[in-house]
Order: sequence, then structure tokens, then C-alpha cells
Amino acid sequence: MRYGYFDDNRREYVITRPDTPLPWINYLGCDAYFGIISNTAGGYSFYRDARLRRVSRYRYNNVPFDLGGRYIYLRDQDSGEFWSPTWQPTRRTLHEYTCSHGLGYTIIGSRYASIAAEVRYFIPLGENLEIWQLSLKNEHGHPTRLSLFSSIEFCLWDAWDDATNFQRNFSTGQVEIEDGVIYHKTEYRERRNHFAYFACSERLSGFDTQRDAFLGPYRGWEAPAAVERGRCFDSVANGWAPIGSHQVDLTLLPKETREIIFLLGYHENPADQKFDPPDSQTINKKTVLPIIRKYLARPNADAAFEQLRDYWNRLLGSFQVQTPSADADRMVNIWNAYQCMVTFNMSRSASFYESGIGRGMGFRDSSQDLLGFVHMIPERARERILDLAATQLPTGGAFHQYQTLTKRGNNDIGSGFNDDPLWLILGTAAYLKESGDWSILEERLPYENEPGTERPLYEHLQRSLRYTLERLGPHGLPLIGRADWNDCLNLNCFSDTPGQSFQTTTNKDGRTAESVFIAGLFVMAARELAVIAQKGGLGEEAAQYMAAAGRMEATLLQHGWDGNWFLRAYDDYGHKIGSDECDEGKIFIETQGFCIMAGIGLENGNAIKSLAAVREHLATPHGIVLQQPAYSRYYLHLGEISSYPPGYKENAGIFCHTNPWIMIAEAMAGHGDEAFDYYLRINPSAREEISEIHRCEPYVYAQMIAGRDAATHGEAKNSWLTGTAAWNYAAITQWILGIRPEYDGLRIDPVIPAAWGGFKATRRFRGNTYVIEVKNPSSLNRGVKKLLVEGSEIPGNLLPAAAPNAAVIHVEAVLQ
Ligand code: GLC
Ligand code: GLC
Repeated sequence: MRYGYFDDNRREYVITRPDTPLPWINYLGCDAYFGIISNTAGGYSFYRDARLRRVSRYRYNNVPFDLGGRYIYLRDQDSGEFWSPTWQPTRRTLHEYTCSHGLGYTIIGSRYASIAAEVRYFIPLGENLEIWQLSLKNEHGHPTRLSLFSSIEFCLWDAWDDATNFQRNFSTGQVEIEDGVIYHKTEYRERRNHFAYFACSERLSGFDTQRDAFLGPYRGWEAPAAVERGRCFDSVANGWAPIGSHQVDLTLLPKETREIIFLLGYHENPADQKFDPPDSQTINKKTVLPIIRKYLARPNADAAFEQLRDYWNRLLGSFQVQTPSADADRMVNIWNAYQCMVTFNMSRSASFYESGIGRGMGFRDSSQDLLGFVHMIPERARERILDLAATQLPTGGAFHQYQTLTKRGNNDIGSGFNDDPLWLILGTAAYLKESGDWSILEERLPYENEPGTERPLYEHLQRSLRYTLERLGPHGLPLIGRADWNDCLNLNCFSDTPGQSFQTTTNKDGRTAESVFIAGLFVMAARELAVIAQKGGLGEEAAQYMAAAGRMEATLLQHGWDGNWFLRAYDDYGHKIGSDECDEGKIFIETQGFCIMAGIGLENGNAIKSLAAVREHLATPHGIVLQQPAYSRYYLHLGEISSYPPGYKENAGIFCHTNPWIMIAEAMAGHGDEAFDYYLRINPSAREEISEIHRCEPYVYAQMIAGRDAATHGEAKNSWLTGTAAWNYAAITQWILGIRPEYDGLRIDPVIPAAWGGFKATRRFRGNTYVIEVKNPSSLNRGVKKLLVEGSEIPGNLLPAAAPNAAVIHVEAVLQ
């Protein structure tokens, strides 16, 4: 069952009924001011940091699930009837409803009582404000007198404090109302030099800024007292809960259309110019008013919207494809790329599943996210790598997370996830391959942000590799530490105390439990660094890395192979995890994917066996589960993985992040049909038709789909902020379509379904635009035997990097 449809030409998903199984959301903003918005206008906004500079309030896990947002009420002054054109919060049945989520904007339109309403929400590029552009049309044959009421609930800035510290916060709230603009200025009187504002293009008939006046005692957002009676109370918030509501009264003639603009924004004043007059307590509005005036003017708002569209068209233009699969096309061309940009902007901070107050930027997550956006914004990828490296510890280890505002490592979580540092090598390699910018390796960065410790990025990478080699266990495999990629495989935790963090509790010395996953990751990273060293003229060092990789591979084949698949780990007792010998958790997905991606087992037949085992034991119609059998109870020596009920999250859920590793492994083995089959199983667009089962948005990946052991097999959760976005993008574009940046050029090595006659792609790469046509006349899976550049054949299948040229370069690749 569907709840909408894809409009690929407009690059929108159009939702056609408001009661989606879960809120289906979108993101606004791409620079510093951001918002999340649901299909019924729920959500909130913040400036840079979703915890520390939250502009509007939002209550997670509310009832209904999504309540609180950018709401507008319309009221017919004659009948007294009122409704919300975005359905929530009145939930009056609308005669027509559509929500179009586009790239950086959302438009919600509806019709009720012959009044057509449409609100377009977006954030102009480079501005710290959001525009709600409302248009109203009277479809009656007679004039209609309407009142409209805007509403927003302000957050007292620090979202955590806002949700907990009521003894203080009920007394601090302050606002100013001037010329129809509502200013939220809590704590501006003391150490903050920022405030929020809420403005309207029309003359007001009233306003409210105190929530309980507007709503009335014991009432909620579904029927505010002000709206019900048809008049605001002109309340001024002193403490309690500051809100913003404008009342506008208007008479619409038959067929008349009116446009009204609301602005919600964030503004900072220089610390010494906060007040006007300077010795007063009144906000100095000199620098904000020009901005407010500008965007309350419709032509400027429209122009800003066009600029936003251009911005996204330019970003997405870096890679466009036309394949026989509409699901692949729309994910590659639109939604997967868009989701990768959102994960770049948000990391794991703010979604409907991440509350914006918890997790900082993950070291491992951010390094992997790079894979999905580096081709669109290489310069921002460069910055991100440098930020990450500057938090690295002198040991080569990494803080597991760092905070966005300070860019410093997070001490609460600390370090000790032994896979972390290796991802920096892979992230940097991806950047080098995309950009060819070798100068990044010479950038000098501190360790632990400590001034005076600056060393070239290259040395940070050297230390990352050494970190693993200095931490080997009894079998010569890497020690796992707190966990590896699987945050929930906590083999040194042994926690028996409720509420203790699995992530930070360590009761064992950590000298026994080993990770086969990190071994595979190490082999991949060491070979990558060897190439980087070689290219930098460090032949001897390169040879050492190759040798270390070779030794690790041999150890892995000796102690990390179970006969039919790769083992997962050794626990603190030295027992196997992910072995046929185990009662539960006999086979895990991560090592099957990562070891093969590192090239292990491709020559001796192990890869083929491992992939067959994945198909036999782990594959389901909804994707590949993380392990089997699921853990049926809590195991002290395994940690959080066994804390989840079977089929959910890391306990045998379909943890979508790992599925593309198998797709890539299948592609490396030459299995184009299998790779694409797995690709489609979790492709959100391909699952659109089962939206009532999948339940999350059909246009973006979710972190998890419930596995076969779960009662709700096939149900997705935790959409948007997941490494799934980047890895699926890499799997389809680089390995299945096979257009893969390498150090010396662009590799064209598709591994596709045999039934595909070919496909076309446009790829920007190092200043050139390649228009690539792949032909598959003999129905093969792989094997480019002929490569023509502007009609002349070149040997091999690598397009050598060329000096940037304005002209498009035509390429033809033939599988034979
Ligand atoms: C979450 C984390 C990621 C981790 C994964 C598996 O997605 O963000 O870092 O690798 O879970 O536990
Ligand atoms: C929990 C989740 C895991 C996530 C981690 C992040 O362990 O199960 O997916 O990576 O929290 O802190």
C-alpha cells in the first residue's frame, strides 16, 4: 500500500494522505540554520547545534507521536469553524491534502470549506531564518472573512536544560513585541547575544506570546482558546512558556488569492551592541530588521527559493544515471544523494529518532559518511577530515565522538572503540581518489586539539595503522576494545547492573577478546595506506604496510575462517563468536562483507563460500539480517547485542548499513545479478508499495528493518541519519554501476544484471564532465573489454585523470 508517489521531475515525494504510518519527514537548511519538518508540519529548528541552540521546542515520544511544529490555524469568522491546513494539530478531515517533500523544502497544501491553502517551508541559502510562505484562495462564490493564527513554541535554547530544569526555566522566559515582530529573548539579558524572531508580512489584529494564554488552561494545540474564540489575548510572556502567534484577519473576495509570509529566525548581535539604547534592556534591532524586511517581501522570498533549487540541482548534477531500473535511478539521482548530504549536515544528531541532545559527531560514522558526499562537496569533505584528525589521540586512538560547536572530543564516551582510527584512513583515501588533492596529507593538525602537537595528516594516518598493530590478541588478531563497528558487541563489558552504559562500561582488561572484523578492516586500510605511501615516494614504508597486511590476512585465514564463512570474533574466554560451533550467533554479516571487500578469499574460494552462506542463512526478502540465529537471551559476555529482543537492531535485525558490504562483495566476485538483487531488497523506492509494512519514509534509507525473528519483520526504524546512506550510494554507483574514482582516474567496471542492455551516466570528476554510455550487447555481468573516449579506443578500463576542460567528454564502454 502506498501513501503517495514519487514526482521525479520535480524531485519530490508527494504524500497524499496525512496519516502516514509514521511521521514522514524532511530537512530544511544546508548551512547553519536547520529544521526538521514532518508531513503535517511537525518538527523544530535550530542554529548549528541541535542541543545548544534550539530555536523551537519539540517534545519527543509525544502523544500523538508527532505533535508540535510550524502550525497555522484558519478560522471562518462567520461560522466559527477552524482547521489546520497541514492537518495537525486540529486533525479536521481535509477535503484535499498533499505534502510535497523536496530538496530542502516542504510544501503542504490542502482544501477545506472551499478555502485552498498552501504553505511552502524553506530556508534561504546563507540565512539563519525559515520562510513559511502561505497562499490562500477563496473558492467560494461569495466573500469570506477569515482569521489566521500562526504558532510556534520557543525553546529556551539548550534543549536538554529546556526539558528538565523547570524550577529555573519557568521564570526566565522573555519576549519583546515590536511592529508586529515577536522577539524571543530569554537569557539575552545575561550571557547570550542571540535571540529568535517571528515576523509576519501582514498587519496584525492580535498576538500571543504566552502559551497558556493562547491555548487556555487544560487545553492543547488541537483547540487553542484564542483560535476557538477568534481573537488572540495579546499576551506577553513573563516566564513560563514563550510562544509566538500572530493573528491576521482578512476578507477574501470570490476567487481571490492572498499570500502571507511568516519568518522564523535566529540572530546574533555583537556582544557590545546588544541593546538599543545601549543602557536599556531592549534588543538592538538595527542589524536584524533589514533581513526581516527583505524576506517579508514576496519577490525576495521567491528568488531565494529559486536559488535553493539551483543549489540542489548543481549538487546532484555531479552524478546522474539512466538505468533500466527506476528505483535505482531515483535513489542515485535524487534521494540517496540527498540523504547523504543530510547525514553530512546532521551526522547523527537530529531526526525523529535522534533527539538532537545526545550524540555528537561520530568518528567512525563521519569518516564513512564521506563516501556518500565527497564527490558533491569535496572541499567540505576536506574540512571534515581535518576536524576529525585534530581530535585524534596521540596513541593513534580516537575519541568515539566529538561535539559540533567545539569540535573537541567527547570525554563522556571517550575512546577505546578499536576500529575507529582505521576509518580515517579510508575516509582520507576516498577524498584523495575523488579530488586528487594530495596536499591534504601535509596539513598539520594537533592531537586531541592540543596546540603545539601539530603533525601532518599523513602522520595521523600512520598512527592509526600502528594503533591496531600495537593491540593484537592471543591469535594475532586485533583486540576489540569496547566494540568495533558493531557498537553492541561489547566483549569486555560484562555489565550486570541495570542502566549501565554498554558503550562505556569495561570490566575486563581487554587483552583477550579479538575482532575478525577489525582484522579485515586493517587489511583494507593498510593496503590503502601502502598505495598512498608509494605515491608519496615512500617505497620502503609502502612495502612494510603491504607486509603487515599480508601477515594479517594470513592470520585471518588461519584463525578467522570457520570452514564455510568468516568468524566474527573471539570473546574474553577465547571462545569463537560467529562459528558453526556456537548455539546462537553462528554467522554474522559484517565479516563476510568486510573481509571480501578487503580482497580476502577472492582467490582461494572462501569468498564464494562465504557469500553462499550469507544467502543461505542471512538473506530475507526484506534484506540481509545481521546474524543468525538471534540471541534468545542476555549474555553477560556479549553485551548490548544480546540486550535487544530477537530481530531488532544489532540482534539479528536487518542492519541496513551492512547490506551494501555484501552487495560490494558480490560485485567483486562478479555476481551482478546477486548484487543488484540485494540492492533492490532494501532500496526504499522499491519498498514503496509495502509502505504499510515498511512504515518509514519510502524515499530514504532507515538504519534498521526488523529481521525475520521479529514479530514485525519488514518494519523499518530510525530513518535518515545512518551510514546506510553513504554505503548504499557507494555500492550502487561505484561497484554495481562501477564508476569508481581511483588515485589515477575514473575506473569504469560495471557489475550489473545480465538482463541490462546497458546504462548511461553523467559524472563530474576533477573538473571534467564525463558522459558515459555502457553497452552490454552479450548480456554479461561484467567485463569492460572496450573503452572509447571521444570515439578513440584506449587500453584498459581506467579513464586517466585529465586537465579540467569545459567540454563534456564522451565515453563508451562495452562489456564483452
Ligand atoms: C549505529 C552507529 C554506528 C555503528 C552501528 C552498529 O549506526 O552510529 O557507529 O557502527 O550503529 O552498531
Ligand atoms: C546503541 C545502538 C547502536 C548505536 C549506539 C550508539 O548501542 O544499538 O546502533 O550505534 O547505541 O551509541
